[in-house]
Amino acid sequence: MQNQTLTIGSLQLTDPLILAPMAGITDLPYRLLHKRFGAALVTTEMISAKGWIQQGQKTLDLLKSRPEERPLAIQLFGEDPASLAEAAKLAVPYGELLDINMGCPVKKVVKGGAGSALLQDPGRIRNIIAAVRKATELPLTIKIRSGWDNASINFLEVGRIAEGEGADAITLHPRTRSQMFSGHSDWSHLAQLVKALKIPVIGSGDVFTAEDGMRMFAETGCAGIMIGRGGYGNPWLFRQLRQALSGQEPVATTLKERLQVALEHLQFSRQFLGERRAVLELRKHLCWYSRGLPGAGAFRASLQHLPDLSSLQQAITDYFASVEALENESEQAPR
Ligand SMILES: Cc1cc2nc3c(=O)[nH]c(=O)nc-3n(C[C@H](O)[C@H](O)[C@H](O)COP(=O)(O)O)c2cc1C
Repeated sequence: MQNQTLTIGSLQLTDPLILAPMAGITDLPYRLLHKRFGAALVTTEMISAKGWIQQGQKTLDLLKSRPEERPLAIQLFGEDPASLAEAAKLAVPYGELLDINMGCPVKKVVKGGAGSALLQDPGRIRNIIAAVRKATELPLTIKIRSGWDNASINFLEVGRIAEGEGADAITLHPRTRSQMFSGHSDWSHLAQLVKALKIPVIGSGDVFTAEDGMRMFAETGCAGIMIGRGGYGNPWLFRQLRQALSGQEPVATTLKERLQVALEHLQFSRQFLGERRAVLELRKHLCWYSRGLPGAGAFRASLQHLPDLSSLQQAITDYFASVEALENESEQAPR
């Protein structure tokens, strides 16, 4: 039976279910919603260690938080051990766990030697973890991919380094940097890492349903799972995972709940992001909330022209009313 809790250093989580860090996605409104549906730990977007030290406004925006989302994991990226250690000290009042990004494949990040570029330099990984470990008592984790490319798969080596230098857990997204997001993540890498290490291994990759999540636990033995893209417009995935973990049948969401949550997302965005940014962010989230419903394509296209939050609110309310009417019609139609 899958363990129902997860302990990472001094942090005890109520469930082994974590919201993955996603740049451009896991802002405060998104995290608050996923927390409410059962994410035991939520994670910020990645934060530049150097940017933080220089007190950039962007960093301060990314660090906005609310008590109801805690515990919060702060994810840092960078390539310089001293800067990462300094940022780690700054992080103490902002979160309950510190994670270092060693998996980001994006050119802009990799070019500077950070993210998945670190996988090409295990010596640097060792220095980073040692420096950050010395700088903070916060629970410390790293998040990696399987390797840079197929010819240099080294997650076992990196995992052993992390454990040896005092990391409290490790998250593996078992794709290589070259793969970006193509194909499937290779969960057999997770199973190998679990066998090789004593610290908890968290699995990240291709969990889109509660069934996927239970399969990841069963096939890999991982101590926790992270949900990334599976949570897009689908925060109740966390509730379904909790139901599955406690032996219940996961319950599907309803049309009414979808609309209610979309409107709540809009409300949080209005409150925490300000009108202009909220409009830009919500266009994408409302598309996800409409996924799979009749007429979703036309609805999505219509969103791109709407200039403010009130019109987005009206559009999603009208659209869900039209879907509901369609559903009622088809229920009443003679068979
Ligand atoms: C849009 C997007 C942004 C991401 N940003 C980050 C990030 O900032 N830090 C990080 O460690 N991983 C990041 N990831 C990777 C995810 O955390 C996760 O490991 C990956 O998407 C695989 O999990 P999934 O299949 O559940 O999405 C990002 C992924 C996506 C799709």
